[in-house]
Amino acid sequence: MNLPKIASISKKIVVALAGLFLALFLLVHMGINLCLVRPDDGQWFLAASDFMGSNYVVKVFEIVLFAAVFVHIVLNIILYIQNRKARPVRYKRQSKTKTSSTSRLMMLSGILIFLFLILHFFNFFFVKLGWSDGKYMVNMEKVNECALNGEEEVVMAKFADFERGVDVKSHLSKDGKWIYNLTSEEAEPLRGVEKVKADFYHVAADLFTQPLYSIIYLLMFIVLGIHLTHAIPSAFQTLGLNHNKYNGFIKWFTWGYVAVIVLGFSAIPVYFLFFF
Ligand code: HEM
Repeated sequence: MNLPKIASISKKIVVALAGLFLALFLLVHMGINLCLVRPDDGQWFLAASDFMGSNYVVKVFEIVLFAAVFVHIVLNIILYIQNRKARPVRYKRQSKTKTSSTSRLMMLSGILIFLFLILHFFNFFFVKLGWSDGKYMVNMEKVNECALNGEEEVVMAKFADFERGVDVKSHLSKDGKWIYNLTSEEAEPLRGVEKVKADFYHVAADLFTQPLYSIIYLLMFIVLGIHLTHAIPSAFQTLGLNHNKYNGFIKWFTWGYVAVIVLGFSAIPVYFLFFF
């Protein structure tokens, strides 16, 4: 019995399942983020983020997501190293087979996507955790609730904004429920209020109105598209679904999915760069 071989196949199955889960995440992530291009001052996008942020199913999904990213990356690196070691003879002049150049392309695009994720987390996810600078919003109803409960400190913090020259009125939403687009310092005194949240609409607007960031993101969506074009059929193959009967469908499904992902995500920087 060839144990390493069995172990490597099960690793491949886990990589494929984690990859397909990530592909599903991308679709949901893109769908929500597409609300950004609606010219409604972020109303739809913030409502969707609010739902996602307060939903326990989504919180579990987020933990599974991070686990899937970790497993997908670590197992792929192990498999790549194992495959290289498994080559019986090292040629002086490397023969460039299709499989080896595809696996190199997947490794390279994977590394680029990983680097993009680090940048992306600094741009967005870490803003939520307060680890990088961004824009914040405050729920006025929560502030008023605190005032009614006699929590002097919080109410004083609210009025301290006027003293520090923050024109709260110009940040107020149409329905008067939220103060948007506050910098980290402006939002700081209100941190005592439970509902100080990252304002990802204005974070995105600030980011993508800078051509350099928009170009980096657009290039990365192309790299992501290349990675997915190879990854999806390969995942189906690993899961044993590459029967002649399904191959045509898998091909069209992959191209359709990749087109939706690349064009959908790209619409966001293009919107902020040219139409915002
Ligand atoms: C224009 C395109 C994109 C925008 C505007 C965007 C926006 C965001 C925002 C606002 C968050 C924070 C969500 C939260 O924590 O509540 C986030 C998180 C995240 N993004 Fe993106 N994203 C984009 C593209 C991508 C791409 C292409 C990938 C994958 C390659 C990706 C992967 C992630 C991951 C893994 C997280 C952390 C998990 C989460 O919080 O849901 N994003 N993104």
